[in-house]
Amino acid sequence: MKRSFFVLAAVLVLSAVLLSACGGGGDSASTRPEPPSTYASLTNPVAGKAEAADAGKTVYETNCSSCHGATGKGDGPAGAALDPKPGDLGKAVVEASDAYLFWRISDGGGMDPFNSSMPAWKGILSETDIWNVITYMQTNFK
Ligand code: HEC
Repeated sequence: MKRSFFVLAAVLVLSAVLLSACGGGGDSASTRPEPPSTYASLTNPVAGKAEAADAGKTVYETNCSSCHGATGKGDGPAGAALDPKPGDLGKAVVEASDAYLFWRISDGGGMDPFNSSMPAWKGILSETDIWNVITYMQTNFK
């Protein structure tokens, strides 16, 4: 009897800890949808590679910084008038998976639930360019 009480108490304490760890304030991590199945299993083939990050810097400065800002904070001049505005890519690379980033850069924001001016880069940038720019952001924007 006494013993099962302690087990129950331990379970309750543990679930309280887990719940508080998960419910950390409704940030964008919990609202980002899962990538569609065609993207879901992708991982960055050049993660952490310095040459990829270097090449990605050029891709970023040419195509992304006008909206997302030089350091990815969402403060680029062309982003200011947008609704929704570009968010903090530093948060995105910490919170989101390789697959999510590749999907969002490829397909952009012209669909639910985003409905944003984020361009679709598929067909404009090569897959290599996209992985390089992801590596640049993952290396420099954390
Ligand atoms: C015309 C302005 C514009 C340009 C240029 C642009 N973006 Fe975006 N981007 C946005 C906006 C606005 C959002 C926020 C709304 C959304 O998620 O669709 C966004 C969202 C994103 C997200 C999702 C962030 C998150 O927190 O989920 C990523 C990743 C991203 N952009 C990467 C890039 C990269 C990489 C480039 C360059 C190849 C780029 N963007 C160019 C406007 C832009």
